[in-house]
Amino acid sequence: QTCILIGAPMDCGKRRAGCLMGPDAYRTAGLGKALGDLGHEVLDIGNLSPAPHDADDPDAHPYARNACIGWTQSLILAPQWAMDQGVPIFMGGDHALSLGSVAGVAAHAAQNGRPQFVLWLDAHADFHTPETTTSGNLHGTPLAYVTGQPGFDGFPPVTTPVPTGNVCVIGLRSVDGPERNALQATRVARHDMREIDESGIARPLQNFLSRVAEADGALHVSLDVDFLDPAVAPAVGTTVPGGATVREAHLVCEMLHDSGLVTSMDLVELNPFLDERGRTAQLMVDLCASAMGRRVFDRPTRAYA
Ligand code: ARG
Ligand code: MN
Ligand code: MN
Ligand code: MN
Repeated sequence: QTCILIGAPMDCGKRRAGCLMGPDAYRTAGLGKALGDLGHEVLDIGNLSPAPHDADDPDAHPYARNACIGWTQSLILAPQWAMDQGVPIFMGGDHALSLGSVAGVAAHAAQNGRPQFVLWLDAHADFHTPETTTSGNLHGTPLAYVTGQPGFDGFPPVTTPVPTGNVCVIGLRSVDGPERNALQATRVARHDMREIDESGIARPLQNFLSRVAEADGALHVSLDVDFLDPAVAPAVGTTVPGGATVREAHLVCEMLHDSGLVTSMDLVELNPFLDERGRTAQLMVDLCASAMGRRVFDRPTRAYA
């Protein structure tokens, strides 16, 4: 396979700065080499820039809307060339990145007559609209945008929204009231940490992957650093205790690779300014490697039971 590394050094999705250093932290932690060692061809195309946009009033609500529009315009185009060459891996940048990356891959899938599916690995639902968000932080909105919810004036129109029934969120433990109400009116599959504690992380993922396979869908995986427990992944501005363990996260990624279904991926919300000796960047690189085929044995050990 060819892995296409696409940097998006963007910080407009929230007020705390630092995610713009994410792409270089992934490079420093050896993402390209890790994927190359697995036998993949790796193409690091460098960093994108936002499309030209008006300046933002720092007190405006939502925050940095014009910058987010500029980044969305730029990111939405990338899948048009990247998807035909391999698996694009979008290195963020905060989660506002996915306004563009997911809208872009969905448009590309539609051109090819394939249904788009999205796996959202996150403590949060990111299902606010610019009208419901109280924080004003647009990194809390991408899942609403790409599924075609209203209220995103000034953003590129989402011509091919992802059907809510094609979305699965795993890791939830911080959902705001308006998001919960809006989500419950959709077909989004939502799995909170309680469910994972009760019955494990493999079951909801396996169910979802079976549905993607049955539909011959394209699968985009959006991995937010705060999916992970802050004890193992401190480099994120929106830590929520009680997150996925290293082992749960690797299992998810290994199952994703074994499914053969992943067509694109986001690595988002890494804030290297908050990291401890690069450990969060390193964990994200190791997880991405698992998702692209790194394993202890060549076949799942259960094959030898
Ligand atoms: N729901 C909260 C908000 O809207 C948190 C969003 C966090 N999103 C993220 N991508 N980390 O502000
Ligand atoms: Mn194409
Ligand atoms: Mn998120
Ligand atoms: Mn989050």
